[in-house]
Amino acid sequence: MNVDLYEKIWMWAALGIIVLFLASIGVTTFGQAIEPPSRVETIDPETVRTDAEFGRPGVTIHNDGSATVVVQAFTFAFLPNEIRVPHGRPVTFRITSPDVIHGFQIVQTNGNVMVVPGYVSQFTTTFDRAGEYLIVCNEYCGLGHHIMSARLIVGEGSGASGAAAMPAGGAR
Ligand code: CUA
Repeated sequence: MNVDLYEKIWMWAALGIIVLFLASIGVTTFGQAIEPPSRVETIDPETVRTDAEFGRPGVTIHNDGSATVVVQAFTFAFLPNEIRVPHGRPVTFRITSPDVIHGFQIVQTNGNVMVVPGYVSQFTTTFDRAGEYLIVCNEYCGLGHHIMSARLIVGEGSGASGAAAMPAGGAR
């Protein structure tokens, strides 16, 4: 059987592309531990309010200045309702719902996740701008959906000293 030269070239090129794609998946998966955004952590929605972690939602500041924020999203509020985090340090949000699907959107940032009962939604972000941000629910969850919001206060300073919004400057 005679295969035209150009056909051969294209056949090998197609095979080469497939090998290249598979290799890139292998490199990112095993070499760089990059996975699709499908991190699944489950939780029983019935026990959220008594859970060791989610039953006491709030902000934990770690020794390196980073923070973990544990949030309950329920009809029709967020707990805590006012969240203070450091500026310029990684902040990890962990959110779950004891009732229905909610949204957790930090307005004017790329922090935006769906909060599904039975699952823990988690993301990490760093706030480069100190100040106040609005958190809203962006998934329709019932009659009080439009009042479901919270405040996020990003403190000034290095962040390493904590979450308090201290006035900038001052020699010491
Ligand atoms: Cu919660 Cu809309």
